[in-house]
Amino acid sequence: MPIFAGNWKLQKNPAQTRAFFKEFVARSGDLKLKSEGNASLSAAQAAKPGMVKPPENVVVFFPPAPCWEASAESLKDSPIQWGGQNIYIQNSGAFTGENSPQTLAEMGAKFALVGHSERRQLFHEGDDFLSMKVNALQSLGLTPVLCIGESLSQRENKETETVLLHQLTKGLEKASKEKPIIIAYEPVWAIGTGKVATEDQVRDAHLFIEGKLRHLGFQKIPILYGGSVKAENSKGLLKIPHVDGFLVGGASLDVDSFLAICRSNLHA
Ligand code: 13P
Repeated sequence: MPIFAGNWKLQKNPAQTRAFFKEFVARSGDLKLKSEGNASLSAAQAAKPGMVKPPENVVVFFPPAPCWEASAESLKDSPIQWGGQNIYIQNSGAFTGENSPQTLAEMGAKFALVGHSERRQLFHEGDDFLSMKVNALQSLGLTPVLCIGESLSQRENKETETVLLHQLTKGLEKASKEKPIIIAYEPVWAIGTGKVATEDQVRDAHLFIEGKLRHLGFQKIPILYGGSVKAENSKGLLKIPHVDGFLVGGASLDVDSFLAICRSNLHA
């Protein structure tokens, strides 16, 4: 069952966060969300070591760090999950401006994004650093959402598979196969541009990623698609094999548009 994730990027303040969640929680009763979040994953893994069971029917938001507290308070009695957009590899110390993964976990988050293309491009985060973030999150029981994707020039130069394989292999270098992890495929050229990848492009990329994950020894890892996902294209995209949900930017900022995406699998 799908995972619908909303990445708010640097948008909304705490008051807007509270107002959004008040409305979203009140209107999301029909989404049939799994209430235990990834706590149920631990139970599944304890029963079958080495088998990672993907989370099911999950809605998760990634608000900016100053909105973590508002998110934790607004969502504490709801099955809706939340996570951090970016964390550091240490829990505490002299690291001015960074976010502690331990604090994130203590506040009740279950997930964090790692290696979003904006972190890679604008903040020069490299694969080695990102693999340490994956490790730091898994060590605390948080689920990393490792983002990978090619740029337009890489696609035009037919380097898509090389780039995806590199980002996947390096990003997972320090990852545990027994702990939950999610991959988000976000072609950089489709982010915030309105240019959604064609269904064939998404099918090819997800098939490639799924095969490589299996080759690397990672079983049943959810693979999300991200890049200009809207209610108008989400139903079609969700039918593609190995598309296990979405990482949504712009359309997750509005209750109506994100609810419509979260309902993509409810009304065939
Ligand atoms: P858009 O949905 O606005 O294209 O953003 C995608 C994204 O970057 C999600 O992480």
